[in-house]
Amino acid sequence: MKRTLGVCYYPEHWPEDQWTSDAAQMVATGLTWVRIGEFGWSRMEPAPGAFTWDWLDRAIAVLGNAGLKIILGTPTATPQRWMIDKHPDMLAVDAEGHQRKFGSRRHYDFSHLGYRDECKRIARLMGERYGQNPHIAAWQIDNEYDCHDTTLSYSDAARAGFQDWLAQRYQSTDALNRAWGNVFWSMEYDSFDQIDLPNLTVTEPNHPHVLAFRRYSSDQVVAFNKVQADELRKHTDAALIHNYMGRITSFDHWKVGADLDIASWDSYPIGFLSDRLEGSRDFKHAFLRQGHPDMQAFHHDLYRAVGKGRMWVMEQQPGPVNWAPYNPAPLPGMARLWAWEAFAHGAETVCYFRWRQAPFAQEQMHAGLLRPDSAPAPALAEARQVADEIETLAKAGTAPAQAALVFDYESAWAWDAQPQGADFEMFRLAFAAYCALRRAGLNIDILPPETRDLSAYKLIMAPGIMTLSDPLRQALATFKGVALIGPRTDTKTNELSIPTPLGPDLPNADISVSLTESMPSDDAIALQDGGQFVHWFEHLEGGADVFAKTTAGQPAIMGTRNLRYLAGWPDDPTFDRIINEICVELGLETQALPNGLRIRDTTTHRFVFNYANHAQDWHGTSIPAAGVHWEPL
Ligand code: GAL
Repeated sequence: MKRTLGVCYYPEHWPEDQWTSDAAQMVATGLTWVRIGEFGWSRMEPAPGAFTWDWLDRAIAVLGNAGLKIILGTPTATPQRWMIDKHPDMLAVDAEGHQRKFGSRRHYDFSHLGYRDECKRIARLMGERYGQNPHIAAWQIDNEYDCHDTTLSYSDAARAGFQDWLAQRYQSTDALNRAWGNVFWSMEYDSFDQIDLPNLTVTEPNHPHVLAFRRYSSDQVVAFNKVQADELRKHTDAALIHNYMGRITSFDHWKVGADLDIASWDSYPIGFLSDRLEGSRDFKHAFLRQGHPDMQAFHHDLYRAVGKGRMWVMEQQPGPVNWAPYNPAPLPGMARLWAWEAFAHGAETVCYFRWRQAPFAQEQMHAGLLRPDSAPAPALAEARQVADEIETLAKAGTAPAQAALVFDYESAWAWDAQPQGADFEMFRLAFAAYCALRRAGLNIDILPPETRDLSAYKLIMAPGIMTLSDPLRQALATFKGVALIGPRTDTKTNELSIPTPLGPDLPNADISVSLTESMPSDDAIALQDGGQFVHWFEHLEGGADVFAKTTAGQPAIMGTRNLRYLAGWPDDPTFDRIINEICVELGLETQALPNGLRIRDTTTHRFVFNYANHAQDWHGTSIPAAGVHWEPL
């Protein structure tokens, strides 16, 4: 498969006489794809039922005739002003009860069925008009679900939808009261319409109530997406795509992905480092202009799985962004490195965001491939270079992974509802485990919680999975490699209460968690073989073998040869030691990678990425700062 590059473009932002030269320059840069349309609703339907498709028809013709393939977006992330007059209650409500306002984007409530119908309508009209257009080679539905914290809404529409959803799930309030333990604090209900949304309670709301609301809210995202996907499918065979984000766990991406053909995501490595990743000041300083060396890889591997093997980067950072607390420019070379890293992890296409920096509105400080004055910005030449180099990877497929990490969104909601320690968060724990595997130089797959076949892997990690699914439990029972599960895995029922007998319920391994501790980040539990647990420690009991102990003599890892429970959250060096010891046992080759150097194998080449801000040696080859090196396998 030939990898391709593309760019995000907003014809409605530029004079029409510029479109032809823009298109020609995109082609000259070696770009194959152009994404348009996703915020253009006010120009498609300026008044209810009054359509002005002509400009979009012409834009599609100009771009398509220049030889570009078009990804057409449905504009439902930006309902125009009249839509709010038509549906005043479609605006979402925050947890404090404040209605969000018009004047930016994503100002809609996933539970509002009137707005969902409007989205169905525009998807149908676009499908009818452009579904068979030869230039439209893919569709993007909406834009970045949950961006700006928009999955949850505490509106009247959400309350009504939630009550219906609860009635369907539990059938009777008796069943719900039992499942949630509502006898506690006299929280019992006797009709579903008494049940409010879990905000504005005096102290914390009941955890299963919160979890149910999170499940309900995720289901609304899935339903919202599916309505549009179903409409578009009636009119087109082109791939249907959504652009997911980095470190977003508020809805079940596995379920949205099941209704789409490709999972794409928006990669802003430097923005992420500044805006949404933990790390010491030294670490953030060292990677200021490159981003976290594992953040992009994690999401490539995650979304490759969400897309059932098909993954794109729909938006790639080209220069400084506008939305993080600090917005430094990438080191020269990073716009190339990020694209190559995506390709090595299986991306079919990488689109840079955006073509030309807009001189107006909210994102005027966000770089593009061109400056606002149309002169080339630094990333343009890097995109051109990648386009020239792409042939190198012509025969490379995604290489099988030796290791896999199970990732579950429901568990993320459960631990948000009941963190039990201020530092406990699902993404953070899963990412720590992923980084340890990657620092060992392994190829990694990320797996959904219902995975039933683990036979392709030697090493499995499943940290923080609230309740093991039956298929996964069965797969673990016959697993021939080493599965390291925990901490906090299978220690709760599906309703977020404590099972008796106590969990985890592991095939052939007599282990249970008798007590749980969380700790401030500067306190730790020391281990006998060196290293420590941070944030979290579970006291284990049972008859299974003990593989490692704390200095106080308590089990730190317990289980069988194939299935081991990790009692705490290892800090990074401890994670490295544990993973390396298991790899030695399994005969899996690991790498001692210097800080910031990462590798990923494809079926034909080994790729080496230098995220460091200085040159580093790879087996005698010096790789410059922000450099990429590949060698045949
Ligand atoms: C993404 C979004 C784009 C643009 C970009 C800026 O989150 O999808 O529309 O806002 O960020 O970095």
